[in-house]
Amino acid sequence: MMKVTTLSLLAVLFNLSGYCYALINPFLPGWNPDPTFLRVGDDYFVVTSTFEYFPGHPIYHSKNLVDWKLIGHGLTRPSQLSLMGTPTDAGLWAPGLRYNNGTFYLVSTARYAYTNEYRLFPRSFYVTTDDIFHGEWSDPVYFDSLGYDADLFFDENGDVYNTWCGINNAMDKIYGIYQNKIDIATGNSLTTDELIFNGTLPLNSSSRPEGPHVYLINSTYYLLIAEGGTDNNHRATIQRGPSPSGPWENNPMNPILYNGADKSLPVQRTGHADIVEGANGSWWGVALGGRPQGGNDSHLQLGRESFIFPVSWEDGWPVFNGGEPISEHIEGVLEDKSPLVKYTNEFDSDSLDLTFYNVRTPYKPFHSLTARPGHLRLNGNGYAPGDRDSAALLLRKQTSYDEVFETELDFQPTSNLTEAGISVYYGDQLHNEIAVCGDPNGGEGRFVKVKTIVQAEQEGPWSLTYTNNTITTVEYYPLATTSAPVKLTAVGASTNYTLGYAEGDDAWMYPVTFDSAAISVPPFGGFFFKGAAFGIYSTGNGRSNLVPADFSYWKQTPTGI
Ligand SMILES: *[C@@H]1O[C@H](CO)[C@@H](O)[C@H](O)[C@H]1NC(C)=O
Ligand SMILES: *[C@@H]1O[C@H](CO)[C@@H](O)[C@H](O)[C@H]1NC(C)=O
Ligand SMILES: *[C@@H]1O[C@H](CO)[C@@H](O)[C@H](O)[C@H]1NC(C)=O
Ligand SMILES: *[C@@H]1O[C@H](CO)[C@@H](O)[C@H](O)[C@H]1NC(C)=O
Ligand SMILES: *[C@@H]1O[C@H](CO)[C@@H](O)[C@H](O)[C@H]1NC(C)=O
Ligand SMILES: *[C@@H]1O[C@H](CO)[C@@H](O)[C@H](O)[C@H]1NC(C)=O
Ligand SMILES: *[C@@H]1O[C@H](CO)[C@@H](O)[C@H](O)[C@H]1NC(C)=O
Ligand SMILES: *[C@@H]1O[C@H](CO)[C@@H](O)[C@H](O)[C@H]1NC(C)=O
Ligand SMILES: *[C@@H]1O[C@H](CO)[C@@H](O)[C@H](O)[C@H]1NC(C)=O
Repeated sequence: MMKVTTLSLLAVLFNLSGYCYALINPFLPGWNPDPTFLRVGDDYFVVTSTFEYFPGHPIYHSKNLVDWKLIGHGLTRPSQLSLMGTPTDAGLWAPGLRYNNGTFYLVSTARYAYTNEYRLFPRSFYVTTDDIFHGEWSDPVYFDSLGYDADLFFDENGDVYNTWCGINNAMDKIYGIYQNKIDIATGNSLTTDELIFNGTLPLNSSSRPEGPHVYLINSTYYLLIAEGGTDNNHRATIQRGPSPSGPWENNPMNPILYNGADKSLPVQRTGHADIVEGANGSWWGVALGGRPQGGNDSHLQLGRESFIFPVSWEDGWPVFNGGEPISEHIEGVLEDKSPLVKYTNEFDSDSLDLTFYNVRTPYKPFHSLTARPGHLRLNGNGYAPGDRDSAALLLRKQTSYDEVFETELDFQPTSNLTEAGISVYYGDQLHNEIAVCGDPNGGEGRFVKVKTIVQAEQEGPWSLTYTNNTITTVEYYPLATTSAPVKLTAVGASTNYTLGYAEGDDAWMYPVTFDSAAISVPPFGGFFFKGAAFGIYSTGNGRSNLVPADFSYWKQTPTGI
């Protein structure tokens, strides 16, 4: 504690005198859990998890660890990733990005199902490309083993290892780090699955040794893992040994990353790390963390984000951030440059940039930037946000707790079934909308519909649809015209969101403010793996929707920029 205080004091002094520079975390805007880290030459890459979002696994690139650019996604085609009916928070889990002899390998796990009886274990796989900047990634090459968080390790002698998190059996669910050798051409197992590590915590179903990465550094093998589950007990620990499979010598300084000992720290849940040696011999790590607003875990709507930190070495062990908890500002390293930018899209280009996502693999394109120049047109289908399918819904991650999203919609609904608007979206059960629709009583008029969803007391049976614990509130507000464009906004604050609308040139109306817990507290038995996004959508609520929904701009403004 003393050290932290001294550091903060120094930071203030340096700031006053204009000297201070500090890296700013989280370094990628918006939810980006389970970062994997790779350097090839002087190019750095980070890839993160996307769950039921499509395309899958954003690839971020940097030359200096400060300026990061989204250069593409690993899984962009239905032949690679077919998320039809995939439950929320299943889908793509933690990736591993590796490079060997001219080829990039992106290792991943697509979880296509949960079951009521036990968590059916998924199959991991990898895709490859020789050109990470412009290439298409291959179709998946599947492993034989069951488990998640798989990663590849290429040993000096040409052996290739797959290392992953598996379970002893489906009933006890004691997790462990498993490994085998594989044939890199086919993914086929060459050796039987071996349990190589149980983690450092007392072994039970919540100790969760996972997220393994194997490294060979100066003739010593290291096994870096995540432990304690991805919530408040999350941490990173490291072992070393004479082979990629151990036996392991425990680092006496474990855990090497754990913010959970002090719940007052603004960054919590730190763990799931990966490290690289920089081009100049400096070492760096990335890990996930979460920032509960006001110290309250119910206000963690940006989810798990990616943090970067310096790594040093002592006695042959890596030390993360000088042994200090990782934080939003790490003094004295990299450049003091915020990753947050004001985003404006006037929809005057022919294609959408890479920052937009679908929910699940779309059956076919549902948007057009050319049907009406200067507009993004959504052609709604029968599905709506929240359906376990693929609605005409386009999402962009929320990048800052304080952030305003605004758009303008030209839409002439023909009934209350035809509806288009915006969403503050997490997943199937956590989403809130403000939209334009027809008269709920069947008249000719046009209405604004506000729909908020709150998870009630967290009790009741686990259910695949979770609807048992949900309280949905729908309110309608009449509009004055049947044709004027309607501006729609979602104003994100640290602990709540306010939804608003303005018809034509009329003043803004703000019919509802809802607690951000509505977007971050999952239903009983559900998960909270992603984070908030802003979305635009169009739906026929169970019917075809022939009415085009034309949006004329998208503005996302992190406040204070
Ligand atoms: C090494 O590279 C890092 C990352 O680009 C940079 O911050 C650091 O200043 C470099 N160190 C030296 C000694 O050049
Ligand atoms: C590296 O790739 C080249 C070209 O694909 C191949 O000829 C060579 O055998 C590979 N080397 C190793 C060590 O796998
Ligand atoms: C892991 O724990 C199990 C159960 O206690 C034990 O049988 C096994 O030997 C342990 N494996 C390792 C690699 O520590
Ligand atoms: C597992 O053990 C830890 C103590 O290390 C304990 O806090 C936790 O409740 C246990 N979890 C289960 C599911 O028994
Ligand atoms: C690896 O060994 C070299 C040469 O002894 C040394 O300079 C370097 O610091 C070592 N790297 C690590 C990570 O220990
Ligand atoms: C955390 O936030 C939730 C949702 O607003 C609220 O119900 C709860 O009382 C808060 N907890 C604390 C300790 O303030
Ligand atoms: C449309 O209006 C009818 C009649 O009020 C109502 O029962 C139905 O739930 C509404 N549908 C939607 C999608 O709002
Ligand atoms: C909802 O939960 C209650 C208990 O909390 C249970 O009695 C009821 O059967 C559940 N309903 C459904 C549809 O699952
Ligand atoms: C929303 O949250 C902000 C920041 O926490 C707070 O200042 C504001 O009063 C809240 N608004 C409402 C209506 O609760």
